[in-house]
Amino acid sequence: MIANRRDDHVRFAAEQHRRPGRYNQFDDVSFVHHALAGIDRSGVSLATRFGGIEWPVPLCINAMTGGSAKTGLVNRDLAIAARETGVPIATGSMSAYLADESAADTFGVMRRENPDGFIMANLNATASVAQARRAVDLLRADALQIHLNAIQETVMPEGDRSFADWGPRIEAIVDGVDVPVIVKEVGFGLSRETLLRLQEMGVRVADVSGNGGTNFARIENDRRESADYAYLDGWGQSTAACLLDAQGTGIPVLASGGVRNPLDVLRGLALGACAAGVSGLFLRTVLDGGVPALISLISGWLDQLESLMTALGARTPADLTHCDVLVQGGLRAFCAERGIE
Ligand code: FNR
Repeated sequence: MIANRRDDHVRFAAEQHRRPGRYNQFDDVSFVHHALAGIDRSGVSLATRFGGIEWPVPLCINAMTGGSAKTGLVNRDLAIAARETGVPIATGSMSAYLADESAADTFGVMRRENPDGFIMANLNATASVAQARRAVDLLRADALQIHLNAIQETVMPEGDRSFADWGPRIEAIVDGVDVPVIVKEVGFGLSRETLLRLQEMGVRVADVSGNGGTNFARIENDRRESADYAYLDGWGQSTAACLLDAQGTGIPVLASGGVRNPLDVLRGLALGACAAGVSGLFLRTVLDGGVPALISLISGWLDQLESLMTALGARTPADLTHCDVLVQGGLRAFCAERGIE
């Protein structure tokens, strides 16, 4: 059952990303152009540090898949692209491995193909400490992502309906594993209130993963035979809104959900993210064009990030928070409602 679900998710998500470019709330963020701000490219570094983690670049291949034969091959290809470009990478949820040891290699292939890379294990918030340790051990993972996906579970026909113990579970995992824990959404966003609770639980980093990209309400709805949830299409906050909402909380945040190009990465960094993550678009690229297409896309993004930071006068990703940005449209209205200045 889990294996079939994983295949469905890959198929439906890739389909969403094959449709032509859509507006999302990153479009409400623009840089004020300062024609004399530029510096020399030799002075620019893409390296980023947050919550005890160091990455050579402010971009990762975010959590997606594993658990079936087909998705094991996808993980292999993603891991090769990560190795060749030096970007950190996450597996999809390893609950399939915890339920069935024979799925181990569909995740383990990532470490085999990328022995020295930064790899994040991934689990849901119902995992025990022992299960979290097993997931980390299988991959010799450098960090553990825990995903919060109550809306996805709700629309998923076979999904969980009990969410009350997620908080205590996360706290126990944070105490019980010896790698940094990153808590993330799956495309509906993390509010300021949620971020503050995560911080109290000792979570080191949060990946807001807001709406505007892969839409799991739609994916799970497409998998249903009855009782349509199509009206949930716009649920949640956008990634840009979450980043603005996060300001002042003190917890390091990552920007994922609807990142479409290097400009969206820069917008996320300017709004305070320490790095950005991409899932659906990279998945579609590797499925349609194979490993060479994904390597070429990611290498191009890294090159363009460095070039644009040079023109913007940002020596480091963190420097981008000093750039002047304009916030307009629906995003501006969100800020007004939430009292964000
Ligand atoms: C996901 N995502 C995800 N996240 C997670 O924490 N565990 C998981 O198992 C999965 N599975 C998964 C499968 C597929 C096919 C996709 C495309 C995505 C969610 C992902 O990490 C990310 O939060 C969202 O997809 C939003 O980012 P994009 O896709 O808009 O870049």
